[in-house]
Amino acid sequence: MKDIIRIYPDPKMSAAACAAFIDREITRLLETKTFVSVALSGGSTPALLFRVLVDSYSEAPWIGKVKFFWVDERCVAPDDPESNYGAAKKLLLDPLGIKDEMVFRIHGENNPADEVARYTSVLQKELETDGVIDICLLGMGSDGHTASVFPQQISLMTTSIPVAETKNPYSGQRRITMTGKLINNSLTTIFLAHGKEKKDVLKLILDNRERESFPAGFVINAHDGVYWFLDTEAYRLP
Ligand code: 6PG
Repeated sequence: MKDIIRIYPDPKMSAAACAAFIDREITRLLETKTFVSVALSGGSTPALLFRVLVDSYSEAPWIGKVKFFWVDERCVAPDDPESNYGAAKKLLLDPLGIKDEMVFRIHGENNPADEVARYTSVLQKELETDGVIDICLLGMGSDGHTASVFPQQISLMTTSIPVAETKNPYSGQRRITMTGKLINNSLTTIFLAHGKEKKDVLKLILDNRERESFPAGFVINAHDGVYWFLDTEAYRLP
C-alpha cells in the first residue's frame, strides 16, 4: 500500500497545495479526456480547499469540463445546513459558475433506499467504463471514518455494492455513501485532513500499525498510491 504523504505547517498551506495538485491532475487528464469526474466529500475541511479553488483557479481552462459527484451525503434537503452538496454549491459551484448539467448530487431528501438505487444508476451512466472516478477527494473523521463509512460499518469498504445507506452512529443521522468498491476504483485518491484530533488515528494508519482498524485505512489506490495532504497538527513523520 503506497501513501504519498505531504505535510504542511498549517491547513491553509495544505489546502493550497491540494488545490494545485487537483489543478495539475485535471489539466493532465483533459489532455486525453473531454471531461473529468471529481467526487467531493463533506464536512468542514473541504471549505478551505473550495476557497482556494475559487480564489486562485476560477479562470482555469478546466472550469466547465468537470463533472461533480459526491462521495457521500447526509439524508437532508439540499438547502439544509448539513447538506454536503449545499455547502459545495455555496462555496464552490456557484462562485465558479458550474452549470447544473455538470453537477450530480445525491438527493438526500429522497427515501434512502430509493436514492441508493438512483445514485448508483447515475454513476453507472455518467462515469466512463467500469465506474472509475477520476479524482476522489476524501476526508477523515477522528474515529477514522471516511465518506460516511464509520468504523461500525467497516465492511462497506470491502463490499461489492458501490453505494449504500448508512447512519452516523453518534447522531443517528442517515447517510448515503460511496463504498470501498467505488472509492478504491478511483484513478486519483486524495485525503485532506487537518488538526490534532486526527493525529492518533492518522499515526496508526500511516505508520501501518493498525491500518485496517479504520475505514480510512481501507482506502487504496492501485494506480498511484493514496495522496495525503495534512498539516503538522494532524501528522508528523516518524
Ligand atoms: C461527511 C464527510 C466525512 C468527512 C469527515 C471529516 O459527510 O461528513 O464526507 O467523511 O470527510 O467527517 O470531516 P471534517 O472535515 O469536518 O473533519
